[in-house]
Amino acid sequence: MDYFAGIDVGSLSTDAVILDEEGKIAGYSIVETGANSTSAAEAAFSEALVRVGLEHTKVKRIVSTGYGRVSVPFAHKTLTEISCHALGAYAIFPDTRTVIDIGGQDSKVIKVGPEGKVLDFTMNDKCAAGTGRFLEVMASKLQIPLCKMGELSLNTVCEASISSVCTVFAESEVVSLVARNHPKEEIIRGLHRAVVNRVWSMVMALGVNYEVTMSGGVAKNKGVTAFLEEKLGKPLRIYSEPQIIGALGAALHARNLASLRHSIDHGIDIHSCTNGSKHGNFP
Ligand SMILES: Nc1ncnc2c1ncn2[C@@H]1O[C@H](COP(=O)(O)OP(=O)(O)OP(=O)(O)O)[C@@H](O)[C@H]1O
Ligand SMILES: [Mg+2]
Repeated sequence: MDYFAGIDVGSLSTDAVILDEEGKIAGYSIVETGANSTSAAEAAFSEALVRVGLEHTKVKRIVSTGYGRVSVPFAHKTLTEISCHALGAYAIFPDTRTVIDIGGQDSKVIKVGPEGKVLDFTMNDKCAAGTGRFLEVMASKLQIPLCKMGELSLNTVCEASISSVCTVFAESEVVSLVARNHPKEEIIRGLHRAVVNRVWSMVMALGVNYEVTMSGGVAKNKGVTAFLEEKLGKPLRIYSEPQIIGALGAALHARNLASLRHSIDHGIDIHSCTNGSKHGNFP
């Protein structure tokens, strides 16, 4: 059996997904990107190969994505995160029409069309506010593990008002709230509100089409997702491992690339195919 891989080298995590011929996820891995994108890509790919019990040579096509996508020497092709998140989200939830991806360094809202194609998108990659980085900075200021932020914020209905949109000024606000012994749960709730307000303005600028799928590590923060769902007035679609959606999309592109190559090699008229992309069953 042939396999296909997608590697998403993000600012915080590097994720690898290996698909089998039928398009099922055979295995995946998530590692920290750290200071060297190439080493992170190699580590993520090796870990995923070990989990599947595969040799590298069995993987026929590899597509890399993410801000560090050009640092993956073993990839056959690079693609933008936008097209990978759109295809990955569509593959898991075919009724997806909008994707909200909040990662470590940027946030994106993508309008998705038939077959997971990108119709339009908007992106914030200029400012940490409205990204996972904002929450990381605040978690460390509050000395609370990032993975506990969501849960803690759901313990209260009161929230501190964080008026600054800038991370640096918001950090000063947090310091002064802590100094006044303001409950941490309320501060965290206020921080989640600030992130969601920021992302919501992007959603509004693009317009919402339902259903809405959320990808990226911040989708693991139940405080942020609860506020987004409140704004949307309906539940978000969230995969059990939202951090691998970009890598999944890249792996699907790799699989499509291989079937295109096969068609060319065997003289099949690809223009006569109505649908070049095939999607398998996902767990
Ligand atoms: N267990 C968790 N609980 C809550 N939040 C989390 C958890 N794991 C990761 N995050 C959040 O996810 C963010 C990282 O997300 P992700 O791995 O998707 O980013 P990335 O793809 O590396 O970044 P980018 O796409 O911006 O380059 C962190 O900044 C953090 O806020
Ligand atoms: Mg990312």
